[in-house]
Amino acid sequence: MGNDIDRAGVAKAYARWAPIYDLVFGKVFDSGRRSTIAVADAIGGRVLDVGVGTGLSLSDYSRTTRLCGVDISEPMLRRAQERVRTLQLSNVDMLGVMDAKNLAFADGFFDAVVAQYVITAVPDPEATLDDFVRVLKPGGELILVNHIGAESGPRKLFELAFSPIARRLGWRPEFPWERLSNWAARHGGVTLAERRPMPPLGHFSLIRFRKS
Ligand SMILES: C[S@@+](CC[C@H](N)C(=O)[O-])C[C@H]1O[C@@H](n2cnc3c(N)ncnc32)[C@H](O)[C@@H]1O
Repeated sequence: MGNDIDRAGVAKAYARWAPIYDLVFGKVFDSGRRSTIAVADAIGGRVLDVGVGTGLSLSDYSRTTRLCGVDISEPMLRRAQERVRTLQLSNVDMLGVMDAKNLAFADGFFDAVVAQYVITAVPDPEATLDDFVRVLKPGGELILVNHIGAESGPRKLFELAFSPIARRLGWRPEFPWERLSNWAARHGGVTLAERRPMPPLGHFSLIRFRKS
């Protein structure tokens, strides 16, 4: 698959979503968010939340976990900044506009990298995952929660039909599991630690890769 999603288009789409994002996606994505954060908190230390959006996840992390959050959309991040201020989240060290594929952090800086509902929205998921691993310490974890496309059946047909509309939102509903497993095999420096179906109906998955 090529670069069928363009970054500027995604940033524009999220600028429009920003004012209503929490209302529409707050609850839908909540269970996945909480499970991801539980894993990240158990690791602790320094955590990077990529595609942090409006910062819905930020207050769920333990106050002892040090957080950095990045996103391509400034309007989404502005909301996250408001949240940090209002809720006095003193464990958030920085929030900044950054492309997930070109993270401005040193190699091995983080104990965990979290990406919630992001990896299918970036133009080049494999190169983006490479950069996530680069900023992880050896033994650190990459924790993803995302929709993974159905392998067969009616859900797969629906996802294919829905795909042109979803693409305008920067989503790829048909995103197959093989894309992640092939990436991990090619990368060679990560092992799959967990793949857990998430509600509703296993439509989403929590996926953990550990850096060797
Ligand atoms: C579906 S939202 C998820 C937001 C948040 N993680 C949550 O759980 O509510 C996807 C987020 O990824 C961000 N995003 C999309 N492409 C990105 C990129 N290339 N680099 C950084 N962030 C990106 C969007 O701006 C948006 O905030």
